[in-house]
Amino acid sequence: MSKSGTILYLDGVSVSFDGFRAINNLSLVLDRGEMRAIIGPNGAGKTTMMDIVTGKTKPDSGEVYFNGEIDLTRHDEADIAMMGIGRKFQKPTVFESHTVEDNLMLSLKGPRSIFPALFHRKTADEARRIDDILGIIRLGDKRHMLGANLSHGQKQWLEIGMLLAQDPKLLLVDEPVAGMTDAETEETARLLKDIAKTHSVVVVEHDMHFVRELGVKVTCLHEGSVLSEGTLDFVSADDRVVEVYLGR
Ligand SMILES: Nc1ncnc2c1ncn2[C@@H]1O[C@H](COP(=O)(O)OP(=O)(O)O)[C@@H](O)[C@H]1O
Ligand SMILES: [Mg+2]
Repeated sequence: MSKSGTILYLDGVSVSFDGFRAINNLSLVLDRGEMRAIIGPNGAGKTTMMDIVTGKTKPDSGEVYFNGEIDLTRHDEADIAMMGIGRKFQKPTVFESHTVEDNLMLSLKGPRSIFPALFHRKTADEARRIDDILGIIRLGDKRHMLGANLSHGQKQWLEIGMLLAQDPKLLLVDEPVAGMTDAETEETARLLKDIAKTHSVVVVEHDMHFVRELGVKVTCLHEGSVLSEGTLDFVSADDRVVEVYLGR
């Protein structure tokens, strides 16, 4: 299988923890510009797959390539983040005592510490980027609100905005709609579809209504490997997926 045209390429990847194979000969390929939804039961290896891509966990075997050319197994977490892979963990970690806008300023790419970031005047370019991101994350009218005062869903959107501020090529988003209201969940699907126009995205989610809204190719993981892959209709009609995940 050729790596050209891929943003993410995993082939034959395995990793064991104390003899337990959390990832087992996993092959997963994402085209440049693609958004992919990953589903699968708890313990399937979804988060571990992201740990491998971001350099947090080193695979025991297999190939992991970014952008068709960069061997991610030879780089550490900091390098990988700098090269353009952004990750959103399940729990939001915004700075509660800073405003929405300052949270984004603090995340803008470039070497900066908190003080210069907050006390230097925004350049026109930075102001434009912040405005763009605020639009994408639906928080334009909340820019002066403290992080602490956002709803759970809005915090998740802000954190996605903080990722975008790092200018990643590939975003990995782990269970973004857990704990969100139905309205927030639907808005998050639209928001990620907007982001996917200009980024590659991997989104892990259990909410099947949300996955349907995304309208993208789905990969179902089970016991560290791909169990089924295709349209949501195809995957959800797969007997093995019904057996291990969707229930009878
Ligand atoms: N650092 C680790 N040490 C030991 N076991 C781990 C570690 N990370 C994940 N696992 C195990 O690997 C399996 C896959 O976990 P995980 O990737 O979190 O699944 P998912 O995100 O699909 O629910 C689980 O059985 C989990 O307990
Ligand atoms: Mg997980």
